[in-house]
Amino acid sequence: MLTCQKSLFSLSDADHYLNCAYMAPLSKAVEAAGIEGLIRKRRPALFKVDDFFDEADAVRERFGALIHAAPQHIAIIPSASYGIATAARNLPIERGQTIILAHEQFPSNVYVWQRLAQEKGAEVQMVAPPEGPNRGQRWNERLLDAIDNRTAVVSLGNVHWADGTRFDLVRIGQRAREVGAAFVIDGTQSVGALPFDTTQIQPDAVICAGYKWLLGPYNIGLAYFGPCFDNGVPLEENWITRKNSEDFAGLVRYQPDYQPGAVRYDMGERAHFTHLPMLQAALDHLLSWTPRWIQSYCQQLTAPLLADADALGITVEDAAWRGEHMFGLRLPPHVSVETLKANLSDRNISVSVRGDALRISIHVFNESADIDALRAALHAALQPATA
Ligand SMILES: Cc1ncc(COP(=O)(O)O)c(C=O)c1O
Repeated sequence: MLTCQKSLFSLSDADHYLNCAYMAPLSKAVEAAGIEGLIRKRRPALFKVDDFFDEADAVRERFGALIHAAPQHIAIIPSASYGIATAARNLPIERGQTIILAHEQFPSNVYVWQRLAQEKGAEVQMVAPPEGPNRGQRWNERLLDAIDNRTAVVSLGNVHWADGTRFDLVRIGQRAREVGAAFVIDGTQSVGALPFDTTQIQPDAVICAGYKWLLGPYNIGLAYFGPCFDNGVPLEENWITRKNSEDFAGLVRYQPDYQPGAVRYDMGERAHFTHLPMLQAALDHLLSWTPRWIQSYCQQLTAPLLADADALGITVEDAAWRGEHMFGLRLPPHVSVETLKANLSDRNISVSVRGDALRISIHVFNESADIDALRAALHAALQPATA
């Protein structure tokens, strides 16, 4: 059983940070790794050739272990949009085919498909959730129904970024394979906190920004590109992704070949001497806590809040169809979600409003006091009107 890990972070006791889906705080170890990286650059002479490779490989190994994938399939990317654009560039799509997305998914996983569809004469279909009961389950059914012989690509998250609604990636992936469609997952709001098994889900690509549930710094992320990308074309042609790039003296013996696997999709200057050690330290936390135990910690922590929900007229997705680490609270119609958010902010409670939901997102740095503060605020705001 995982206990609260707040002591590993520098969060203030005055703040109730329930907003990891917005941005994770840096742990002390991640921060120290970054500071050490900065200080190293005081003396550039100490940087060795291996430093450009070993740290990247250490991060690939750890991320591979987290998602159950081989390190050679992992690429280092600057952002989710970069990773998704890499996938989009390499997937075959023809006039009249469809790209299936979930309704109102994050723009970094929408615009690129809209552009591709426009260029190729294809069509983006965004599958909307139904109203009423069993919303999560029926939304998943709608997604499965939308995938047919016209489908070229299915791309969505494991959970919806706005309210944590969970998508059954094993079944959706199976359906995509049945019709020969590529399956691209934006893991930004789930990988790290929610178990993800590449061998079971069998995605073609998994793209993650690093600054949320991977607990890393901003401007570095990780991606899995499966075998269908092994011979693809990267967005940029940088020196280090080419064969024999370890031979610094021979770099102008220009190479037509890339390094093996997904390394070809690494961003330029991927050997970032502060970001890579930070991400490595962050992944070490996740591998020691494990996503499974993170979910169970989050579940126990939020149980009292979810027990209150009904009495306060708040709707929450069924447990089977949401993440434990993030979920949306939908308030009674007479309550303004924006007013409530301002009210929470006055009490130093940080959450986000996304769409019509108050998004609560927690991690092992949260403690009961954070949830109790939110419960007190919700009772104060909602009880008089419901009495
Ligand atoms: C689902 C999802 N994907 C991606 C991102 C970030 O995208 P990018 O790295 O392109 O800025 C976010 C940010 O909130 C997100 O919620």
